[in-house]
Amino acid sequence: MIKRPVKLAPSILTADFTHLADEIRAAEAGGADLLHLDVMDGIFVPNITFGPLVVKAVREITRLPLDVHLMIHEPDRYVADFVKAGADSLTVQAEACLHLHRTVQKINELGCRVGVAINPATEIETMREILPFVDMVLVMSVNPGFGGQKFIETSTSKLRRMRKLQDELNPTCDLEVDGGINVHNIDDVVGCGANVIVVGSAVYNKQGTVADNMAALRKAAER
Ligand code: DX5
Ligand code: ZN
Repeated sequence: MIKRPVKLAPSILTADFTHLADEIRAAEAGGADLLHLDVMDGIFVPNITFGPLVVKAVREITRLPLDVHLMIHEPDRYVADFVKAGADSLTVQAEACLHLHRTVQKINELGCRVGVAINPATEIETMREILPFVDMVLVMSVNPGFGGQKFIETSTSKLRRMRKLQDELNPTCDLEVDGGINVHNIDDVVGCGANVIVVGSAVYNKQGTVADNMAALRKAAER
């Protein structure tokens, strides 16, 4: 297996939105590698968050690459808007796309990195034909829609199997994991081959500062 550096991608979903710029700068100062932005439409998932307008505003206040996770039905309609807003990568949910290859192609043509996410109940074989065309696979380790949910334990074995398929078909492809990651399980997911780790409520919570939380996660990831 290729040794890949672990990238931490804080998700702002549980951040204080009345002080969003400060919250993002704190993650950047704390050593974030990417910033994970969760876009939800109230149709694909039972929650609504924000759209390109907020992505554009975030783009103006940070140099971090913006890792935009589109939990929206038929995302083709909006991918150009998100690229224009400043997204560095766009990840679509396989389950939300009728013509996944077309969607991936469209994002590629826009000059943006492209990822495909799969839900906990979606089997890894769903990724086989699209893998050669993507820069990143995202394995959801909770059902998408909310921050602060419990990690689904079977996700570790799924990550291991996903990484194996990637090594076979697209070895340079990143493997991202999203949902329920904390200081207790981050080393497990890294050990299973995930190299881009989304951390939401483990970074933005009332128990600690963003800097302390990020430092603890980084240390735990290297265990
Ligand atoms: C869930 C989102 C996640 C979420 C992660 O639908 O995709 O990115 O913000 O939050 P935690 O780390 O709290 O599970
Ligand atoms: Zn996400």
